[in-house]
Amino acid sequence: MADERIEEITKKIATYPDFPKPGISFKDIFSVLLEPRVFRNLMAVLEERVRRVCPGVQAVVGLESRGFLIGTPLALALDIPFVPIRKKGKLPGKVKQVSYTLEYGTDVFEAQESSIKKGQKVVILDDLLATGGSMKAACDLVTAMGGEVLLCLVCIELLDLKGCEKFSHPFDAVVKF
Ligand code: PRP
Ligand code: MG
Repeated sequence: MADERIEEITKKIATYPDFPKPGISFKDIFSVLLEPRVFRNLMAVLEERVRRVCPGVQAVVGLESRGFLIGTPLALALDIPFVPIRKKGKLPGKVKQVSYTLEYGTDVFEAQESSIKKGQKVVILDDLLATGGSMKAACDLVTAMGGEVLLCLVCIELLDLKGCEKFSHPFDAVVKF
């Protein structure tokens, strides 16, 4: 049976052609956040999936910045820690780094050294999967720190880009375009 909540979330995701540059069709999670009922339904769907697929999860890892918007309420709902992965130079203290490839050049993700424990079971959360470069880098960083990625979860997957082929961990998306 179709989930009416997901149908409504899908309709609420606004599309902006040619943003941020020509040829890119931008899917905007913020249009969902404008409506508390739809946002709450999105969070409920995410929570249900995590509870079903990985009931033993011990932390939610969110990717800067849009992954923070949904990662923090999910961590609270599950009553487990929220761990931020940020772009280079923004986290204090000792950090672990991973480089990843962008369309032009590379970028660096960082996590605070003590934020992920050895053997800790995590779900990695982001708003959107496009090329999969960000999610792959996050998987690599969590794994290098000794964490175990139980699930990579996003609100929106852009199917044409085949981003989920970049990494081998279990993956799920609420809405697919
Ligand atoms: C966007 C989006 C994902 C990532 C997906 O983030 O929020 O994190 O790109 O792209 P990929 O699958 O090709 O790696 P962005 O880096 O634009 O930053 P933001 O979240 O701070 O807006
Ligand atoms: Mg992002």
